[in-house]
Amino acid sequence: MKFEEIESHLRGIPHTPSEDGKVLYNFVLENKITNILELGFQHGVSTNYFVAALDELGSGKILTIDREIARNESPNINELSKKTALDKYIEVIFANTSYIWELRKLIKHNIENPDKAKLFDFCFIDGAHSFETDGFAFLLVDKLLNDGGIILFDDINWSYASSPTLKDTDFVKQMSDEERNAEQINDVLELLVATNPNYEILEIRNRWAWIRKISNSNQNKNISTLYDKQKKSYQIKQLLRSIIR
Ligand SMILES: C[S@@+](CC[C@H](N)C(=O)[O-])C[C@H]1O[C@@H](n2cnc3c(N)ncnc32)[C@H](O)[C@@H]1O
Repeated sequence: MKFEEIESHLRGIPHTPSEDGKVLYNFVLENKITNILELGFQHGVSTNYFVAALDELGSGKILTIDREIARNESPNINELSKKTALDKYIEVIFANTSYIWELRKLIKHNIENPDKAKLFDFCFIDGAHSFETDGFAFLLVDKLLNDGGIILFDDINWSYASSPTLKDTDFVKQMSDEERNAEQINDVLELLVATNPNYEILEIRNRWAWIRKISNSNQNKNISTLYDKQKKSYQIKQLLRSIIR
């Protein structure tokens, strides 16, 4: 679907404005990205910019995760993607609690089914924006990202103190000034990404940070073998213990 057409469907719906939608759309199209993971969809606006580009490419899939409450959005992601007729490219997960548990399920699936592993070339992280959730999400997404894969963090300057919906909650009032005012995704970048030799920061502009997983880390390829080896050695130890007893 051409950009002008998808833009006309999505105009006026939060959250991604059309100028950012164009960047997302062109990124997928130009880099021929066909395997996308998205954390945080709300109405499904960014999701639909991505899949409009997949439609232009002629194939691909996005797996996108938000919470159950996102069903109550109007329009919700299912209604919106029926309207754009791009729903065939979208797999939606409404998580009970958080995308963290869904990422855990994907990693477990990959370990148990290495031949049917679900891996991604691009992940858009636009969910909680907190260090606690998205710091961990980064570590988990790393296990699901192909070598050379890209992660895009949104709202890198977000803080609890600047959040209109959270700043007056008891949870936030309990925080130290430091935690409340911290730009939490910036902390993820500084403390977890910049210190990780498997990642390079490609660009930080406006509220976005683009990072790339450097090739040849081979992490995903070895994961099931490593797991099997460790499981076997654990089972042998257990066996020896029961013989000694
Ligand atoms: C800024 S909105 C996403 C906007 C969307 N990416 C777009 O640009 O159209 C953030 C979404 O993240 C979701 N979210 C926040 N924390 C989450 C978590 N821990 N697990 C799942 N979803 C979460 C919220 O429910 C919300 O819908």
